[in-house]
Amino acid sequence: MNLHPVGIIGTGKYVPDRILSNQELEQMVETNDEWIVTRTGIRERRMAAPEQATSDLAYQASLKAIEAAGITIEDIDLIIVSTITPDMFFPSTACLLQEKLGAKKAAAFDLSAACSGFIYGLATASNMIATGMYKHVLVVGAETLSRITDYTDRNTCILFGDGAGAVVLGQVPEGRGFKSFELGADGGGGELLKVSGGGSRLPASADSVSSKQHYIHMAGNDVFKFAVRIMGGAADEALRKAGMSKEDIDLLVPHQANVRIIQSALNRLDLPEEKCMINLDKYGNMSAASIPVALAEAFEQGRINEGDCLVFVGFGGGLTWGASVLIW
Ligand SMILES: CC(C)(COP(=O)(O)OP(=O)(O)OC[C@H]1O[C@@H](n2cnc3c(N)ncnc32)[C@H](O)[C@@H]1OP(=O)(O)O)[C@@H](O)C(=O)NCCC(=O)NCCS
Repeated sequence: MNLHPVGIIGTGKYVPDRILSNQELEQMVETNDEWIVTRTGIRERRMAAPEQATSDLAYQASLKAIEAAGITIEDIDLIIVSTITPDMFFPSTACLLQEKLGAKKAAAFDLSAACSGFIYGLATASNMIATGMYKHVLVVGAETLSRITDYTDRNTCILFGDGAGAVVLGQVPEGRGFKSFELGADGGGGELLKVSGGGSRLPASADSVSSKQHYIHMAGNDVFKFAVRIMGGAADEALRKAGMSKEDIDLLVPHQANVRIIQSALNRLDLPEEKCMINLDKYGNMSAASIPVALAEAFEQGRINEGDCLVFVGFGGGLTWGASVLIW
């Protein structure tokens, strides 16, 4: 089979207007700006308005990505929304987005791989285009993590924010596009980061609500150690599969969870900070939305040029991880 080269032909992002600063969190839990900044690098994060759900954020980001790609909404063959905060169990957020966009010809489904979801989505979409099944796929990472965050738990509430990033994938000239994907999972670590309530194991009940089972629970230190180990390892493996080396990297676009985790990946890859997109100071961890928002901002800031070698790398609940090498 002849595989078509596939790349990103348009990016877009949307973050809600409402800013939740470290100073405001100081009024809510026993914490302080200095602790949050030195331990995480985060200064503020965004919060969706009460009437906004994940598909609303996804919609705004998608419009921008579609416009940037220079295609029409009818050209979209498939919509993949990576999210752990869907509007509802079903219909999928991708179907809700399809209706909002009026993308009548598009198939649609959600993908659940937590913070690695966007890279899982890229891998899925690019293979569908490479094999000729589809021409244009909209891949969105969108989250309203504020809806599953316990704002009385200082271990988690300082970390998370809301936002959406979208890309359109399509065919690109020979030599460009995705060169490799490295995806992985370790279900044995699922307990480290989870929302256990509301599913078939523990359906919503007065008890599940009062015992806070619908919020994110995290063993921060264990997740931190896993992240430090996996970020460098996954990026290395993606580069190896692409037949490239760390010297080839022009821009690393990592998952934005903690600046110390990103720093450890930079050390492992011998990369200076100028070759890394970091925006977690403004947005915190937006799970599946972090990488596409960082990508869209890097592009807006003129940090990406034709022919540049980009590396995406992320990790998250599941546990899951993913990395990819792309020639822009
Ligand atoms: C959560 C995280 C920032 C905590 O940083 P840390 O350096 O590991 O800190 P620890 O968890 O060891 O906690 C150290 C102390 O700070 C306290 N602390 C935790 N959160 C605090 C806060 N917001 N403000 C002040 N103190 C806090 C802890 O209670 C602990 O106190 P103790 O020693 O008296 O028990 C860090 O572990 C992390 O980023 N983990 C990865 C999280 C992540 O990326 N999750 C999403 C994955 S996609």
